[in-house]
Amino acid sequence: MMNIPLSKPWITEDDIKEVAEVLKTPNLSLGPKLLEFENMLLRVSGRKFAVAVNSGTSALHLIIRSLGIKDGDEVITTPFSFIASSNCILFERAKPVFVDIDPNTYNINPELIEEKITDKTKAILAVDVFGQPASWDRLIEIAKKYNLYLIEDSAEAIGSEYKEKPAGSFGVASVFAFYPNKQITTGEGGVVLTDDEQIYKLSKSMRNQGRGEEETWLYHTRLGYNYRISDINCALGISQLNRLNKIIEMRDTVAKMYSQKLSEVEEVITPYISPDTTRMSWFVYVIRLKDKFYGKDRNIIIESLGRRGIQTRNYFEAIHLEPFYVEQFGFKEGDFPVTEFVADRTIALPFYTTMTEGEVDYVIKNLKEVIYEVKHS
Ligand SMILES: Cc1ncc(COP(=O)(O)O)c(C=O)c1O
Repeated sequence: MMNIPLSKPWITEDDIKEVAEVLKTPNLSLGPKLLEFENMLLRVSGRKFAVAVNSGTSALHLIIRSLGIKDGDEVITTPFSFIASSNCILFERAKPVFVDIDPNTYNINPELIEEKITDKTKAILAVDVFGQPASWDRLIEIAKKYNLYLIEDSAEAIGSEYKEKPAGSFGVASVFAFYPNKQITTGEGGVVLTDDEQIYKLSKSMRNQGRGEEETWLYHTRLGYNYRISDINCALGISQLNRLNKIIEMRDTVAKMYSQKLSEVEEVITPYISPDTTRMSWFVYVIRLKDKFYGKDRNIIIESLGRRGIQTRNYFEAIHLEPFYVEQFGFKEGDFPVTEFVADRTIALPFYTTMTEGEVDYVIKNLKEVIYEVKHS
């Protein structure tokens, strides 16, 4: 039996060497590797300013705080995402106002946004789900019309392009994230990207305990956090970023292999890539089961694959149905039907940069067998 994980970072001997080099220097934090990593991220995103931090969640929180979003404000966002894109709004006691998704791209549906805008709406936070950029042209139009901040959660989409513009370049500020399941990893890490000097200065200060601009050690101008990322992590990020294009190509090859081989599995819908996505940087490979296999059947498929050594996951669960969202806001089933329909049927298959054709074949062979079992049970 093969053991195939859901994801796996690609760490090379070069990566290890770069990390070890930092350990020979006195600069383990706030050193030259931080600046080098930030400068590389500016080139990937086409932004003016970068503030690297210890997670994508921290990066989102810094943006929310830098924009002054607070108690009682409303932020329009998607319920089909990783929970951090919505939790960052709760950190400042503002309210996430969910808008349902497009049934093909799984990104926020811009045509449903305007009806949710109120006097309290301050921002739209859209997510480039699974690596596919949201509909930025429409989102920019709506944000301009209603004078709202637009935030891009591009945690999953480093290197993707929307109409030939890089993911991470849209809205007033954006984030990438570098957990080990991401296209490139720093172990833990994230970054705030912006063209706005004020957001940059505030994020930089709040990353480091609210210190003033000169970063004098015991001079604190505002409430801040310890969201620093170490130079050890940044060295890994630099080494990984150096082969970003190769990583994106290798992941694309794996995704294409899956889509081609799955085209004959009639119970499975393979990922849809919009023509606006001029470059896809795959974060995960998520299939959707045809309509009649959902909920319990989908979960049986996930469990059976697990018993066969294949790790898969029900990406994503609908955020509004997470227990503490239900408790706090009273959301219920049926509130966001497209999200719920999709969330009930999706399965993230094992997917990583170095995945081989033999591993893809093994996953597909077992998936077919397990679907057959469910159909005939
Ligand atoms: C869409 C999205 N937003 C935010 C995050 C948070 O990033 P992190 O796990 O680095 O805090 C993630 C990553 O896991 C994500 O997928």
